[in-house]
Amino acid sequence: MKPKQTGLKKGLTNYGDQGFSLFLRKAFIKGAGYTDKALERPVVGIVNTGSSYNPCHGNAPQLIEAVKRGVMLAGGLPMDFPTISIHESFSAPTSMYLRNLMSMDTEEMVRAQPMDAVVLIGGCDKTVPAQLMGAASAGIPSIQLITGSMLTGSHRGERVGACTDCRRYWGKYRAEEITTEEVSQVNNQLVASVGTCSVMGTASTMACIAEALGMTVPGGASPPAVTADRIRVAEETGSRAVQMAHDGLTIDKILTPAAFENAMRVLLAIGGSTNGIVHLTAIAGRMGLEIDLDALDRMGRTTPVLLDLKPSGQHYMEDFHHAGGMATLLRELKPLLRLEAMTVTGKTLGEEIELAGEGFPQDVVRSADNPIFPQGGIAVLRGNLAPGGAIIKQSAADAKLMEHEGRAVVFENMQDMAERIDSDDLDVTAEDILVLKNIGPKGAPGMPEAGYIPIPRKLARAGVKDIVRISDGRMSGTAFGTIVLHVTPEAAIGGPLAYVRNGDRIRLSVMQRQIALLVSDEELARRSQEKPVVIPTAERGYAKLFLDTVTQADQGVDFDFLRAKNMIGKTPE
Ligand code: FES
Ligand code: MG
Repeated sequence: MKPKQTGLKKGLTNYGDQGFSLFLRKAFIKGAGYTDKALERPVVGIVNTGSSYNPCHGNAPQLIEAVKRGVMLAGGLPMDFPTISIHESFSAPTSMYLRNLMSMDTEEMVRAQPMDAVVLIGGCDKTVPAQLMGAASAGIPSIQLITGSMLTGSHRGERVGACTDCRRYWGKYRAEEITTEEVSQVNNQLVASVGTCSVMGTASTMACIAEALGMTVPGGASPPAVTADRIRVAEETGSRAVQMAHDGLTIDKILTPAAFENAMRVLLAIGGSTNGIVHLTAIAGRMGLEIDLDALDRMGRTTPVLLDLKPSGQHYMEDFHHAGGMATLLRELKPLLRLEAMTVTGKTLGEEIELAGEGFPQDVVRSADNPIFPQGGIAVLRGNLAPGGAIIKQSAADAKLMEHEGRAVVFENMQDMAERIDSDDLDVTAEDILVLKNIGPKGAPGMPEAGYIPIPRKLARAGVKDIVRISDGRMSGTAFGTIVLHVTPEAAIGGPLAYVRNGDRIRLSVMQRQIALLVSDEELARRSQEKPVVIPTAERGYAKLFLDTVTQADQGVDFDFLRAKNMIGKTPE
Protein backbone atom coordinates (compact mmCIF):
# COMPACT_ATOMS: atom_id res chain seq x y z
CA MET A 1 0.00 0.00 0.00
CA LYS A 2 1.23 3.50 -0.83
CA PRO A 3 1.88 5.60 2.28
CA LYS A 4 -0.85 8.20 2.83
CA GLN A 5 0.20 11.54 1.44
CA THR A 6 -0.41 14.45 3.75
CA GLY A 7 0.30 18.14 3.91
CA LEU A 8 2.14 19.62 0.98
CA LYS A 9 2.81 16.14 -0.42
CA LYS A 10 -0.86 15.61 -1.10
CA GLY A 11 -1.85 15.15 -4.70
CA LEU A 12 1.63 15.42 -6.17
CA THR A 13 1.48 14.66 -9.85
CA ASN A 14 2.38 11.15 -10.87
CA TYR A 15 4.08 12.12 -14.08
CA GLY A 16 7.75 12.96 -13.99
CA ASP A 17 9.71 13.31 -10.82
CA GLN A 18 7.64 13.52 -7.63
CA GLY A 19 10.62 14.62 -5.59
CA PHE A 20 11.11 17.54 -7.94
CA SER A 21 7.39 18.42 -7.79
CA LEU A 22 7.58 18.67 -4.01
CA PHE A 23 10.81 20.65 -4.26
CA LEU A 24 9.06 23.14 -6.56
CA ARG A 25 6.00 23.39 -4.35
CA LYS A 26 8.15 24.17 -1.35
CA ALA A 27 10.26 26.65 -3.25
CA PHE A 28 7.19 28.59 -4.33
CA ILE A 29 5.38 28.59 -1.00
CA LYS A 30 8.63 29.68 0.67
CA GLY A 31 8.34 32.80 -1.43
CA ALA A 32 5.67 33.73 1.11
CA GLY A 33 8.19 33.29 3.93
CA TYR A 34 7.37 29.82 5.26
CA THR A 35 10.02 27.67 6.98
CA ASP A 36 10.43 23.92 6.43
CA LYS A 37 9.14 23.35 9.94
CA ALA A 38 5.84 25.07 9.18
CA LEU A 39 5.46 23.07 6.01
CA GLU A 40 5.60 19.74 7.86
CA ARG A 41 2.28 20.38 9.57
CA PRO A 42 -1.07 19.06 8.35
CA VAL A 43 -2.58 21.65 6.04
CA VAL A 44 -6.07 23.03 6.65
CA GLY A 45 -7.57 24.82 3.66
CA ILE A 46 -9.92 27.68 4.47
CA VAL A 47 -12.36 28.67 1.75
CA ASN A 48 -12.56 32.45 1.59
CA THR A 49 -15.82 33.64 0.11
CA GLY A 50 -15.42 37.26 1.13
CA SER A 51 -16.40 39.73 -1.59
CA SER A 52 -17.41 43.37 -1.75
CA TYR A 53 -20.56 42.14 -3.45
CA ASN A 54 -21.37 39.94 -0.49
CA PRO A 55 -22.10 41.82 2.76
CA CYS A 56 -23.52 38.56 4.15
CA HIS A 57 -19.86 37.45 4.25
CA GLY A 58 -18.58 40.85 5.38
CA ASN A 59 -16.96 39.34 8.47
CA ALA A 60 -14.87 36.89 6.41
CA PRO A 61 -11.53 38.57 7.30
CA GLN A 62 -12.16 38.24 11.07
CA LEU A 63 -13.42 34.69 10.67
CA ILE A 64 -10.39 33.64 8.65
CA GLU A 65 -8.08 35.15 11.25
CA ALA A 66 -9.84 33.22 14.02
CA VAL A 67 -9.89 29.96 12.06
CA LYS A 68 -6.17 30.35 11.43
CA ARG A 69 -5.59 30.87 15.14
CA GLY A 70 -7.55 27.71 15.87
CA VAL A 71 -5.60 25.74 13.28
CA MET A 72 -2.27 26.99 14.68
CA LEU A 73 -3.30 26.22 18.27
CA ALA A 74 -4.02 22.65 17.23
CA GLY A 75 -0.74 22.22 15.38
CA GLY A 76 -1.88 22.63 11.78
CA LEU A 77 -0.93 24.99 8.99
CA PRO A 78 -3.80 27.19 7.76
CA MET A 79 -4.02 28.14 4.08
CA ASP A 80 -6.91 30.31 2.95
CA PHE A 81 -7.89 30.46 -0.68
CA PRO A 82 -10.71 32.07 -2.64
CA THR A 83 -13.64 30.58 -4.47
CA ILE A 84 -16.51 32.43 -6.03
CA SER A 85 -19.04 33.97 -3.70
CA ILE A 86 -22.75 34.34 -4.35
CA HIS A 87 -25.01 37.00 -2.89
CA GLU A 88 -28.75 36.86 -3.39
CA SER A 89 -29.13 40.40 -4.65
CA PHE A 90 -26.11 40.51 -6.92
CA SER A 91 -26.43 37.30 -8.90
CA ALA A 92 -28.18 37.62 -12.23
CA PRO A 93 -30.20 35.88 -13.52
CA THR A 94 -30.50 34.21 -10.11
CA SER A 95 -28.20 32.98 -7.37
CA MET A 96 -29.49 29.45 -7.91
CA TYR A 97 -28.15 29.55 -11.46
CA LEU A 98 -24.67 29.89 -9.94
CA ARG A 99 -24.94 27.44 -7.03
CA ASN A 100 -23.70 24.46 -9.01
CA LEU A 101 -20.85 26.52 -10.44
CA MET A 102 -19.78 27.41 -6.90
CA SER A 103 -20.02 23.76 -5.89
CA MET A 104 -17.75 22.80 -8.80
CA ASP A 105 -15.31 25.58 -7.93
CA THR A 106 -15.24 24.39 -4.31
CA GLU A 107 -14.84 20.72 -5.21
CA GLU A 108 -12.10 21.27 -7.75
CA MET A 109 -10.05 23.71 -5.66
CA VAL A 110 -10.26 21.37 -2.66
CA ARG A 111 -9.09 18.54 -4.88
CA ALA A 112 -6.45 20.52 -6.74
CA GLN A 113 -4.60 22.07 -3.81
CA PRO A 114 -2.89 20.04 -1.10
CA MET A 115 -4.94 20.08 2.10
CA ASP A 116 -5.72 17.49 4.76
CA ALA A 117 -8.97 19.11 5.85
CA VAL A 118 -11.03 22.07 4.72
CA VAL A 119 -12.99 24.77 6.52
CA LEU A 120 -15.87 26.01 4.39
CA ILE A 121 -16.86 29.59 5.24
CA GLY A 122 -20.30 30.34 3.88
CA GLY A 123 -23.53 31.98 4.88
CA CYS A 124 -25.60 33.65 2.19
CA ASP A 125 -28.32 31.39 0.86
CA LYS A 126 -26.68 29.38 -1.92
CA THR A 127 -23.15 29.35 -0.53
CA VAL A 128 -23.53 26.77 2.25
CA PRO A 129 -25.31 24.24 0.02
CA ALA A 130 -22.78 24.84 -2.76
CA GLN A 131 -19.92 24.25 -0.34
CA LEU A 132 -21.46 21.14 1.19
CA MET A 133 -22.16 19.75 -2.29
CA GLY A 134 -18.59 20.41 -3.40
CA ALA A 135 -17.06 19.04 -0.21
CA ALA A 136 -19.29 15.96 -0.35
CA SER A 137 -17.89 15.21 -3.80
CA ALA A 138 -14.29 16.02 -2.87
CA GLY A 139 -14.51 13.63 0.07
CA ILE A 140 -11.84 14.97 2.47
CA PRO A 141 -12.43 15.91 6.14
CA SER A 142 -14.60 19.03 5.91
CA ILE A 143 -16.22 21.37 8.39
CA GLN A 144 -18.68 24.18 7.77
CA LEU A 145 -18.26 27.60 9.34
CA ILE A 146 -21.32 29.80 9.05
CA THR A 147 -20.72 33.56 8.73
CA GLY A 148 -23.68 34.25 11.05
CA SER A 149 -26.76 36.40 10.93
CA MET A 150 -26.96 40.19 10.74
CA LEU A 151 -28.24 42.24 13.66
CA THR A 152 -31.77 43.63 13.60
CA GLY A 153 -32.42 47.33 13.08
CA SER A 154 -35.09 49.70 14.29
CA HIS A 155 -37.53 51.83 12.32
CA ARG A 156 -39.64 54.36 14.24
CA GLY A 157 -39.45 52.19 17.32
CA GLU A 158 -40.22 48.95 15.50
CA ARG A 159 -37.65 46.21 15.25
CA VAL A 160 -36.91 45.25 11.66
CA GLY A 161 -34.71 42.76 9.84
CA ALA A 162 -34.11 41.39 6.36
CA CYS A 163 -35.95 40.31 4.69
CA THR A 164 -39.45 39.45 5.84
CA ASP A 165 -39.77 43.08 6.88
CA CYS A 166 -38.37 44.22 3.50
CA ARG A 167 -41.35 42.54 1.88
CA ARG A 168 -43.79 43.82 4.46
CA TYR A 169 -42.72 47.44 4.09
CA TRP A 170 -42.60 47.19 0.32
CA GLY A 171 -46.10 45.67 0.42
CA LYS A 172 -47.27 48.67 2.48
CA TYR A 173 -45.68 51.02 -0.01
CA ARG A 174 -47.33 49.24 -2.95
CA ALA A 175 -50.65 49.47 -1.19
CA GLU A 176 -49.95 53.22 -0.73
CA GLU A 177 -50.05 52.91 3.07
CA ILE A 178 -46.62 54.54 3.53
CA THR A 179 -44.80 57.33 1.69
CA THR A 180 -41.73 57.23 -0.54
CA GLU A 181 -39.86 59.03 2.24
CA GLU A 182 -40.72 56.42 4.84
CA VAL A 183 -39.85 53.50 2.60
CA SER A 184 -36.41 55.01 2.00
CA GLN A 185 -35.93 55.53 5.74
CA VAL A 186 -36.66 51.92 6.50
CA ASN A 187 -34.23 50.93 3.74
CA ASN A 188 -31.40 52.09 6.03
CA GLN A 189 -32.56 49.90 8.90
CA LEU A 190 -33.42 46.56 7.35
CA VAL A 191 -29.83 45.31 7.22
CA ALA A 192 -28.24 46.68 10.37
CA SER A 193 -24.85 44.97 10.06
CA VAL A 194 -22.90 42.49 7.97
CA GLY A 195 -24.14 38.93 8.15
CA THR A 196 -26.95 36.86 6.70
CA CYS A 197 -30.69 37.57 6.77
CA SER A 198 -31.94 37.68 10.34
CA VAL A 199 -35.13 35.66 9.90
CA MET A 200 -35.65 31.98 9.13
CA GLY A 201 -34.85 32.44 5.46
CA THR A 202 -32.69 30.12 3.44
CA ALA A 203 -29.42 31.27 5.02
CA SER A 204 -30.62 30.61 8.58
CA THR A 205 -32.27 27.40 7.42
CA MET A 206 -29.04 26.13 5.88
CA ALA A 207 -27.09 27.16 8.99
CA CYS A 208 -29.42 25.07 11.17
CA ILE A 209 -29.34 22.23 8.65
CA ALA A 210 -25.53 22.27 8.54
CA GLU A 211 -25.46 21.89 12.31
CA ALA A 212 -28.16 19.19 12.22
CA LEU A 213 -26.13 17.31 9.61
CA GLY A 214 -23.24 17.31 12.07
CA MET A 215 -21.18 19.52 9.75
CA THR A 216 -20.55 22.43 12.17
CA VAL A 217 -19.20 22.51 15.70
CA PRO A 218 -22.04 22.38 18.26
CA GLY A 219 -23.62 25.82 18.48
CA GLY A 220 -22.24 26.77 15.09
CA ALA A 221 -25.56 27.81 13.55
CA SER A 222 -26.84 30.71 15.59
CA PRO A 223 -24.23 33.30 16.72
CA PRO A 224 -24.70 36.57 14.80
CA ALA A 225 -21.89 37.58 12.46
CA VAL A 226 -20.51 40.43 14.58
CA THR A 227 -20.43 38.67 17.96
CA ALA A 228 -17.55 37.31 20.01
CA ASP A 229 -19.42 33.99 20.06
CA ARG A 230 -19.15 33.81 16.27
CA ILE A 231 -15.40 34.44 16.40
CA ARG A 232 -14.98 31.78 19.09
CA VAL A 233 -16.89 29.32 16.90
CA ALA A 234 -14.44 30.16 14.11
CA GLU A 235 -11.42 29.46 16.31
CA GLU A 236 -12.91 26.19 17.50
CA THR A 237 -13.70 25.23 13.91
CA GLY A 238 -10.06 25.69 12.93
CA SER A 239 -8.84 23.51 15.79
CA ARG A 240 -11.46 20.92 15.03
CA ALA A 241 -10.38 20.73 11.39
CA VAL A 242 -6.85 19.74 12.44
CA GLN A 243 -8.21 16.96 14.64
CA MET A 244 -10.44 15.74 11.80
CA ALA A 245 -7.38 15.55 9.57
CA HIS A 246 -5.54 13.48 12.20
CA ASP A 247 -8.51 11.18 12.70
CA GLY A 248 -9.34 10.79 9.02
CA LEU A 249 -12.89 11.93 9.79
CA THR A 250 -13.96 12.25 6.17
CA ILE A 251 -17.26 13.78 5.10
CA ASP A 252 -18.83 10.44 4.10
CA LYS A 253 -18.70 9.38 7.77
CA ILE A 254 -20.87 12.39 8.63
CA LEU A 255 -23.23 12.80 5.66
CA THR A 256 -25.04 9.49 6.22
CA PRO A 257 -28.75 8.68 5.82
CA ALA A 258 -29.16 9.28 9.57
CA ALA A 259 -27.67 12.76 9.21
CA PHE A 260 -30.03 13.65 6.36
CA GLU A 261 -32.97 12.37 8.35
CA ASN A 262 -31.97 14.66 11.22
CA ALA A 263 -31.61 17.56 8.80
CA MET A 264 -35.12 16.93 7.45
CA ARG A 265 -36.56 16.86 10.97
CA VAL A 266 -34.83 20.11 11.80
CA LEU A 267 -35.94 21.72 8.52
CA LEU A 268 -39.54 20.91 9.44
CA ALA A 269 -39.24 21.92 13.09
CA ILE A 270 -37.71 25.31 12.39
CA GLY A 271 -40.37 26.18 9.80
CA GLY A 272 -37.40 26.34 7.44
CA SER A 273 -37.18 27.68 3.94
CA THR A 274 -38.61 25.51 1.19
CA ASN A 275 -35.28 25.99 -0.58
CA GLY A 276 -33.79 23.76 2.10
CA ILE A 277 -35.45 20.75 0.47
CA VAL A 278 -33.88 21.42 -2.92
CA HIS A 279 -30.46 21.95 -1.35
CA LEU A 280 -30.66 18.88 0.88
CA THR A 281 -31.68 16.84 -2.15
CA ALA A 282 -28.66 18.12 -4.04
CA ILE A 283 -26.22 17.46 -1.17
CA ALA A 284 -27.66 13.96 -0.61
CA GLY A 285 -27.41 13.30 -4.35
CA ARG A 286 -23.66 13.88 -4.14
CA MET A 287 -23.50 11.06 -1.56
CA GLY A 288 -25.61 8.72 -3.70
CA LEU A 289 -28.74 9.25 -1.60
CA GLU A 290 -32.19 10.27 -2.74
CA ILE A 291 -34.39 12.38 -0.51
CA ASP A 292 -37.73 10.64 -0.32
CA LEU A 293 -40.33 13.43 -0.62
CA ASP A 294 -43.16 11.20 0.53
CA ALA A 295 -41.15 10.29 3.62
CA LEU A 296 -40.50 14.00 4.18
CA ASP A 297 -44.25 14.55 4.08
CA ARG A 298 -44.82 11.69 6.55
CA MET A 299 -42.16 13.15 8.83
CA GLY A 300 -43.91 16.50 8.48
CA ARG A 301 -47.06 15.07 9.97
CA THR A 302 -45.21 14.07 13.14
CA THR A 303 -42.81 17.01 13.46
CA PRO A 304 -44.16 20.15 15.10
CA VAL A 305 -42.84 23.62 14.24
CA LEU A 306 -41.07 24.71 17.42
CA LEU A 307 -39.03 27.72 16.44
CA ASP A 308 -40.83 31.03 16.78
CA LEU A 309 -38.95 32.98 14.11
CA LYS A 310 -40.19 35.15 11.28
CA PRO A 311 -41.68 34.52 8.78
CA SER A 312 -43.69 31.75 10.54
CA GLY A 313 -43.35 33.34 13.99
CA GLN A 314 -42.13 36.57 15.55
CA HIS A 315 -38.45 36.43 16.59
CA TYR A 316 -35.10 36.84 14.81
CA MET A 317 -31.91 34.75 14.65
CA GLU A 318 -30.17 36.71 17.41
CA ASP A 319 -33.08 35.81 19.72
CA PHE A 320 -32.65 32.15 18.79
CA HIS A 321 -29.00 32.47 19.73
CA HIS A 322 -29.86 34.03 23.08
CA ALA A 323 -32.30 31.17 23.65
CA GLY A 324 -29.48 28.66 23.40
CA GLY A 325 -29.51 28.11 19.64
CA MET A 326 -29.62 24.64 18.17
CA ALA A 327 -28.90 22.93 21.50
CA THR A 328 -32.28 24.12 22.76
CA LEU A 329 -34.05 22.94 19.64
CA LEU A 330 -32.28 19.59 19.42
CA ARG A 331 -33.01 18.85 23.07
CA GLU A 332 -36.71 19.37 22.38
CA LEU A 333 -36.62 17.29 19.19
CA LYS A 334 -34.52 14.52 20.68
CA PRO A 335 -37.16 11.76 20.60
CA LEU A 336 -37.47 12.27 16.83
CA LEU A 337 -33.76 12.30 16.01
CA ARG A 338 -31.27 9.65 14.89
CA LEU A 339 -28.90 10.14 17.81
CA GLU A 340 -26.24 7.79 16.44
CA ALA A 341 -25.35 10.19 13.61
CA MET A 342 -21.64 11.17 13.66
CA THR A 343 -20.61 14.84 13.77
CA VAL A 344 -17.42 16.81 13.04
CA THR A 345 -16.50 16.62 16.73
CA GLY A 346 -16.00 12.86 16.46
CA LYS A 347 -18.95 12.42 18.81
CA THR A 348 -22.49 11.50 17.86
CA LEU A 349 -25.33 13.99 17.77
CA GLY A 350 -26.83 12.24 20.82
CA GLU A 351 -23.57 12.66 22.77
CA GLU A 352 -23.43 16.34 21.81
CA ILE A 353 -27.01 16.91 22.96
CA GLU A 354 -26.06 15.34 26.32
CA LEU A 355 -22.94 17.49 26.59
CA ALA A 356 -24.96 20.66 25.97
CA GLY A 357 -26.64 19.98 29.32
CA GLU A 358 -29.87 21.39 30.73
CA GLY A 359 -32.00 24.03 29.08
CA PHE A 360 -33.28 27.27 30.63
CA PRO A 361 -36.53 29.23 30.40
CA GLN A 362 -36.88 31.10 27.12
CA ASP A 363 -39.63 31.91 24.63
CA VAL A 364 -38.09 31.34 21.20
CA VAL A 365 -38.04 27.55 21.00
CA ARG A 366 -41.37 26.12 22.04
CA SER A 367 -41.76 22.76 23.74
CA ALA A 368 -43.12 19.85 21.71
CA ASP A 369 -46.42 19.99 23.62
CA ASN A 370 -46.92 23.69 22.88
CA PRO A 371 -45.77 24.11 19.26
CA ILE A 372 -46.16 27.11 16.93
CA PHE A 373 -47.77 24.82 14.42
CA PRO A 374 -48.72 21.21 15.20
CA GLN A 375 -47.33 19.79 11.96
CA GLY A 376 -44.12 20.40 10.07
CA GLY A 377 -43.85 23.59 8.12
CA ILE A 378 -43.72 21.96 4.72
CA ALA A 379 -46.23 19.69 2.98
CA VAL A 380 -45.60 17.75 -0.23
CA LEU A 381 -48.41 17.95 -2.78
CA ARG A 382 -49.15 15.60 -5.67
CA GLY A 383 -51.71 15.51 -8.44
CA ASN A 384 -52.08 15.84 -12.18
CA LEU A 385 -50.65 19.34 -12.07
CA ALA A 386 -47.45 18.11 -10.39
CA PRO A 387 -46.80 14.42 -11.09
CA GLY A 388 -43.25 14.81 -9.74
CA GLY A 389 -44.46 16.68 -6.67
CA ALA A 390 -44.82 20.24 -5.44
CA ILE A 391 -44.52 21.78 -2.02
CA ILE A 392 -46.22 24.34 0.17
CA LYS A 393 -44.97 25.99 3.33
CA GLN A 394 -48.13 25.62 5.31
CA SER A 395 -46.79 27.30 8.42
CA ALA A 396 -46.47 30.54 6.44
CA ALA A 397 -49.77 30.18 4.58
CA ASP A 398 -53.25 31.55 5.28
CA ALA A 399 -55.19 28.75 7.02
CA LYS A 400 -58.38 29.80 5.19
CA LEU A 401 -56.88 29.12 1.77
CA MET A 402 -55.43 25.68 2.40
CA GLU A 403 -58.58 24.01 1.10
CA HIS A 404 -59.51 26.05 -1.93
CA GLU A 405 -60.82 25.73 -5.45
CA GLY A 406 -60.57 28.62 -7.86
CA ARG A 407 -60.21 29.93 -11.38
CA ALA A 408 -56.71 30.08 -12.86
CA VAL A 409 -55.30 33.49 -13.76
CA VAL A 410 -52.28 32.56 -15.86
CA PHE A 411 -49.01 34.36 -16.51
CA GLU A 412 -46.85 32.72 -19.17
CA ASN A 413 -43.52 33.91 -17.71
CA MET A 414 -41.97 36.53 -15.44
CA GLN A 415 -42.14 39.27 -18.03
CA ASP A 416 -45.78 38.61 -18.75
CA MET A 417 -46.44 38.83 -15.04
CA ALA A 418 -44.44 42.03 -14.63
CA GLU A 419 -46.39 43.65 -17.45
CA ARG A 420 -49.88 42.74 -16.26
CA ILE A 421 -49.94 42.10 -12.52
CA ASP A 422 -50.54 45.72 -11.58
CA SER A 423 -52.91 46.56 -14.37
CA ASP A 424 -56.36 47.73 -13.31
CA ASP A 425 -57.70 45.69 -16.24
CA LEU A 426 -56.39 42.39 -14.86
CA ASP A 427 -59.39 40.08 -14.48
CA VAL A 428 -58.72 38.79 -10.99
CA THR A 429 -60.49 38.36 -7.65
CA ALA A 430 -59.22 37.19 -4.26
CA GLU A 431 -60.83 33.79 -4.91
CA ASP A 432 -58.76 33.15 -8.05
CA ILE A 433 -55.51 31.20 -8.24
CA LEU A 434 -52.49 32.91 -9.77
CA VAL A 435 -50.40 30.62 -11.97
CA LEU A 436 -46.90 31.57 -13.09
CA LYS A 437 -45.15 29.37 -15.66
CA ASN A 438 -41.57 29.07 -16.85
CA ILE A 439 -39.69 29.89 -13.67
CA GLY A 440 -38.39 26.35 -13.11
CA PRO A 441 -34.79 25.08 -13.36
CA LYS A 442 -34.63 25.46 -17.15
CA GLY A 443 -37.40 27.99 -17.52
CA ALA A 444 -35.98 31.24 -16.23
CA PRO A 445 -33.28 29.69 -16.10
CA GLY A 446 -32.10 28.85 -12.61
CA MET A 447 -35.41 28.48 -10.83
CA PRO A 448 -35.55 32.03 -9.46
CA GLU A 449 -37.32 32.97 -6.24
CA ALA A 450 -40.17 34.40 -8.26
CA GLY A 451 -42.74 32.01 -6.83
CA TYR A 452 -43.70 34.72 -4.37
CA ILE A 453 -46.03 36.29 -6.92
CA PRO A 454 -47.06 39.72 -5.65
CA ILE A 455 -50.69 40.36 -4.81
CA PRO A 456 -52.10 42.18 -7.88
CA ARG A 457 -52.12 45.88 -7.07
CA LYS A 458 -55.85 46.27 -7.35
CA LEU A 459 -56.38 43.48 -4.81
CA ALA A 460 -53.63 44.80 -2.51
CA ARG A 461 -55.34 48.20 -2.48
CA ALA A 462 -58.58 46.48 -1.54
CA GLY A 463 -56.83 44.97 1.46
CA VAL A 464 -56.24 41.44 0.16
CA LYS A 465 -53.27 39.97 2.05
CA ASP A 466 -53.06 36.46 0.60
CA ILE A 467 -54.17 34.57 -2.50
CA VAL A 468 -53.33 31.07 -3.74
CA ARG A 469 -50.31 31.15 -6.04
CA ILE A 470 -48.76 28.29 -8.03
CA SER A 471 -45.50 28.07 -9.98
CA ASP A 472 -42.57 25.85 -10.90
CA GLY A 473 -40.21 28.30 -9.20
CA ARG A 474 -38.88 28.74 -5.70
CA MET A 475 -39.66 31.27 -3.03
CA SER A 476 -37.43 33.15 -0.68
CA GLY A 477 -37.46 31.60 2.76
CA THR A 478 -38.31 35.01 4.12
CA ALA A 479 -41.62 35.19 2.23
CA PHE A 480 -45.06 34.08 3.36
CA GLY A 481 -48.40 33.26 1.77
CA THR A 482 -50.41 30.36 0.35
CA ILE A 483 -47.86 29.57 -2.30
CA VAL A 484 -47.38 26.27 -4.12
CA LEU A 485 -43.81 25.90 -5.37
CA HIS A 486 -41.42 23.57 -7.20
CA VAL A 487 -44.18 22.17 -9.45
CA THR A 488 -42.40 19.23 -11.14
CA PRO A 489 -41.94 18.68 -14.03
CA GLU A 490 -41.61 22.35 -14.87
CA ALA A 491 -43.49 24.13 -17.65
CA ALA A 492 -40.36 24.73 -19.75
CA ILE A 493 -39.90 21.02 -20.38
CA GLY A 494 -43.58 20.37 -21.03
CA GLY A 495 -44.88 19.56 -17.56
CA PRO A 496 -48.69 19.83 -17.21
CA LEU A 497 -48.24 23.34 -15.82
CA ALA A 498 -47.33 24.44 -19.36
CA TYR A 499 -50.88 23.76 -20.51
CA VAL A 500 -52.90 25.56 -17.85
CA ARG A 501 -55.11 28.28 -19.34
CA ASN A 502 -57.00 31.24 -17.97
CA GLY A 503 -60.28 30.14 -16.49
CA ASP A 504 -59.29 26.50 -15.80
CA ARG A 505 -60.35 25.33 -12.36
CA ILE A 506 -57.62 24.28 -9.92
CA ARG A 507 -58.12 22.59 -6.57
CA LEU A 508 -55.68 22.83 -3.69
CA SER A 509 -56.15 20.58 -0.69
CA VAL A 510 -53.31 20.69 1.77
CA MET A 511 -55.22 18.25 3.95
CA GLN A 512 -55.28 15.69 1.13
CA ARG A 513 -51.86 16.77 -0.12
CA GLN A 514 -53.37 17.40 -3.49
CA ILE A 515 -52.93 19.90 -6.30
CA ALA A 516 -55.36 19.14 -9.11
CA LEU A 517 -55.98 20.79 -12.44
CA LEU A 518 -59.63 20.08 -13.16
CA VAL A 519 -59.07 19.56 -16.87
CA SER A 520 -59.27 16.15 -18.58
CA ASP A 521 -56.17 14.28 -19.75
CA GLU A 522 -57.55 14.34 -23.30
CA GLU A 523 -57.90 18.11 -23.24
CA LEU A 524 -54.36 18.52 -21.87
CA ALA A 525 -53.02 16.19 -24.59
CA ARG A 526 -54.89 18.22 -27.19
CA ARG A 527 -53.39 21.46 -25.86
CA SER A 528 -49.88 20.02 -25.89
CA GLN A 529 -50.30 19.01 -29.56
CA GLU A 530 -51.73 22.36 -30.47
CA LYS A 531 -48.86 24.33 -28.94
CA PRO A 532 -45.88 22.09 -28.16
CA VAL A 533 -43.28 23.35 -25.72
CA VAL A 534 -39.84 24.33 -27.04
CA ILE A 535 -37.25 23.36 -24.41
CA PRO A 536 -34.77 26.21 -23.76
CA THR A 537 -31.20 25.82 -25.03
CA ALA A 538 -28.05 27.96 -25.16
CA GLU A 539 -25.25 28.21 -27.68
CA ARG A 540 -22.23 28.34 -25.40
CA GLY A 541 -20.63 28.71 -22.03
CA TYR A 542 -22.04 28.05 -18.60
CA ALA A 543 -25.57 28.64 -19.87
CA LYS A 544 -25.18 25.70 -22.22
CA LEU A 545 -23.78 23.46 -19.49
CA PHE A 546 -26.63 24.53 -17.25
CA LEU A 547 -29.47 24.00 -19.71
CA ASP A 548 -28.05 20.75 -21.06
CA THR A 549 -27.54 19.08 -17.69
CA VAL A 550 -29.65 20.66 -14.94
CA THR A 551 -32.08 18.29 -13.22
CA GLN A 552 -35.55 19.01 -11.87
CA ALA A 553 -36.38 20.06 -8.31
CA ASP A 554 -36.88 16.44 -7.21
CA GLN A 555 -33.19 15.84 -7.97
CA GLY A 556 -32.01 19.01 -6.32
CA VAL A 557 -31.53 21.11 -9.49
CA ASP A 558 -27.99 19.74 -9.53
CA PHE A 559 -26.24 18.95 -12.80
CA ASP A 560 -26.86 15.35 -13.76
CA PHE A 561 -23.13 14.59 -14.06
CA LEU A 562 -22.36 15.95 -10.58
CA ARG A 563 -24.67 13.57 -8.76
CA ALA A 564 -23.06 10.39 -7.46
CA LYS A 565 -22.65 7.78 -10.15
CA ASN A 566 -24.31 5.07 -8.13
CA MET A 567 -27.39 6.01 -6.20
CA ILE A 568 -27.10 3.79 -3.16
CA GLY A 569 -30.36 4.41 -1.39
CA LYS A 570 -33.12 6.64 -0.17
CA THR A 571 -33.14 8.76 2.89
CA PRO A 572 -34.78 8.37 5.33
CA GLU A 573 -34.01 4.67 4.94
FE1 FES B 1 -27.48 36.90 2.03
FE2 FES B 1 -30.14 36.99 2.79
S1 FES B 1 -29.11 38.08 1.22
S2 FES B 1 -28.53 35.76 3.50
MG1 MG C 1 -33.16 34.28 0.47
